Amino acid sequence: MSSASADFTKYLTTMAGRVDKALHRFLPAEKIAPQTIHKAMRYSVFAGGKRLRPILCIAAAEACGGDAERAMPAACAVEVLHTYSLVHDDLPCMDDDDLRRGRPTCHKVFGDGMAVLCGDALLTEAFYILAETQATPRYRSDVFIKELALTSGSRHLIGGQVMDLEGEGKSLNKAQLVLIHKAKTAALLTTSLRLGAMAVNATPAKLAALTTFGQALGLAFQIIDDILDVTQSTEVLGKTAGKDANVDKATYPAIVGLEKSRKEAAALTKKAMDALTVFGKKAGHLHQLADFLLARNY
Ligand code: IPE
Ligand code: IPE
Ligand code: MG
Ligand code: MG
Ligand code: MG
Repeated sequence: MSSASADFTKYLTTMAGRVDKALHRFLPAEKIAPQTIHKAMRYSVFAGGKRLRPILCIAAAEACGGDAERAMPAACAVEVLHTYSLVHDDLPCMDDDDLRRGRPTCHKVFGDGMAVLCGDALLTEAFYILAETQATPRYRSDVFIKELALTSGSRHLIGGQVMDLEGEGKSLNKAQLVLIHKAKTAALLTTSLRLGAMAVNATPAKLAALTTFGQALGLAFQIIDDILDVTQSTEVLGKTAGKDANVDKATYPAIVGLEKSRKEAAALTKKAMDALTVFGKKAGHLHQLADFLLARNY
């Protein structure tokens, strides 16, 4: 995917494996009735995503000097919630995509109605899983639930999707686009980090540093997603390339051009990394993740 070191590649694979194992444990088994919905949920979750949000969650817990296992329910919750957002994002009434994570989208396999319900069920399940998080001296149980609810609701993720949908075919300016990207993508990335940190009782200073890191990294992440839509093949992406321009989406390359988009993503990645000084060597994996996301090709 990029020129990541062998050690870091191994870290990513190991963590993704641990997350997948926990997800298998948390999600309802396929044999539970009604089987169709549980099949659809597992089809979408185990389609081979990068598991970036759960890995950020775990790496944030590590950076705070905590036990990664404590962050596992939150890590799984953000991945399940993210997967729901993709299932709905792909629906014909939204981005109308046929391919996701290298497979036909949920609605292509199970039908539109079932895909709506699959998203609903994943969204609900995410909170059921998150509720497994142990409270800490600084963070009561309700803090975790509120964090994810606020981020995934109409003030952030859904709000971003609303602005994204309403922006189709309109000429938005850069400030409007930044708002969309922060809401639809950067908020959940930031919350992934924050939940991991809170699960291990992070100090307010460390939580604030991770918030700054996440906001910059999250914006860079969506800029890169926009760039890849223009520059990569469907095969490499595992989702349909060139989709944004087809429906006249407001994207970074469309508004500021490819070169400037690349520069801004790099500058934001640097800004993100600068926020990590308070962690010293413990932020090694977060640094590597930021590098890796900038250099990724899918
Ligand atoms: C895709 O997210 C949707 C965006 C917010 C850009 P990812 O690129 O993390 O997708 P997966 O989870 O690896 O499939
Ligand atoms: C998706 O943004 C953001 C959310 C799902 C909240 P995109 O629409 O750009 O994501 P892709 O390109 O379909 O993965
Ligand atoms: Mg979309
Ligand atoms: Mg989309
Ligand atoms: Mg995209």
